[in-house]
Amino acid sequence: PELGEPVAILVPGHFNEHAIGRIDQAFQRVTIEQADPALVTEEMRRTVRGIASFGGINAALMDALPNLEIIANFGVGYDSVDASHAAQSGIMVTNTPDVLTEEVADTAIGLLINTVREMYAAEKWLRDGSWVKNGAYRLSRLTLRGRSVGIFGMGRIGLAIARRLEAFGLPVAYHNRRQVEGLAYQYHPTLKGLAEAVDTLISVAPGGASTEKAVNAEILSALGANGVFINIGRGSTVDEAALAAALANGTIAAAGLDVFADEPSVPEALLAAPNTSLLPHVGSASEHTRRGMADLCVDNLVSWFAERRPLTPVPE
Ligand code: DGY
Repeated sequence: PELGEPVAILVPGHFNEHAIGRIDQAFQRVTIEQADPALVTEEMRRTVRGIASFGGINAALMDALPNLEIIANFGVGYDSVDASHAAQSGIMVTNTPDVLTEEVADTAIGLLINTVREMYAAEKWLRDGSWVKNGAYRLSRLTLRGRSVGIFGMGRIGLAIARRLEAFGLPVAYHNRRQVEGLAYQYHPTLKGLAEAVDTLISVAPGGASTEKAVNAEILSALGANGVFINIGRGSTVDEAALAAALANGTIAAAGLDVFADEPSVPEALLAAPNTSLLPHVGSASEHTRRGMADLCVDNLVSWFAERRPLTPVPE
């Protein structure tokens, strides 16, 4: 880049409108259809110093941009950014923690109650005229009362969910790779141990190789026939075929899912299962919270190019 040239930020594919407005104020925005290194032009190779995106940034795209300094990920989960390649290449990666914590925790609780009390099916009953035709919706087989909840991934969002569950009078336990110091909730060093101890499992675990299909047939069977599985983290953490089978044969009772392994496609077997509440990855998706995420995403770029100080770098 030549001295005095505006800083070029690459925005691949569809992006948040508020973030685009802010990028246009502070930088020169360049766009490509999708995060595909084959679409990088010679001009981009020369000028692009930052990327703002919803993820999907691989090593080849980084290598195609020799002047790239920073990738500002829109979202707290950055499993679809090759962060280790970025670290090796001296490229900063930032994400958007904190601003979405309470929103995602709200969604998790909403999804849990919706699933356990079959509200998705009760609403369908009303809308398709069954209330008038056939009378009251059947009593829900499950209840939140008496449940014990395990949280897989006790980070900021996990904690916000746990606080809410306490207010509901439900005991909470958790599994993380490491015990969180000073936390009173019961810790289980293995996910299996956690699943055996509770009947409700909420996954907030991040994606990536270390959590790939961690929630498998064995874990679901440990939850038991009264078991409820809620996923607000990443679809990749679940063996979806095993989950569909567990729902079909009564190994567990119900599931509420906001995330899927191959979004936006959802496995037929999950769509067909009657005991599932399914959402299109809307955990953080209020205008309010997405605006906060957009601001933090762009503030990271602004702070980096003003004083080389990222606000929320991803952990090493
Ligand atoms: C996140 O922030 O990681 C949400 O899943 C949105 O992608």
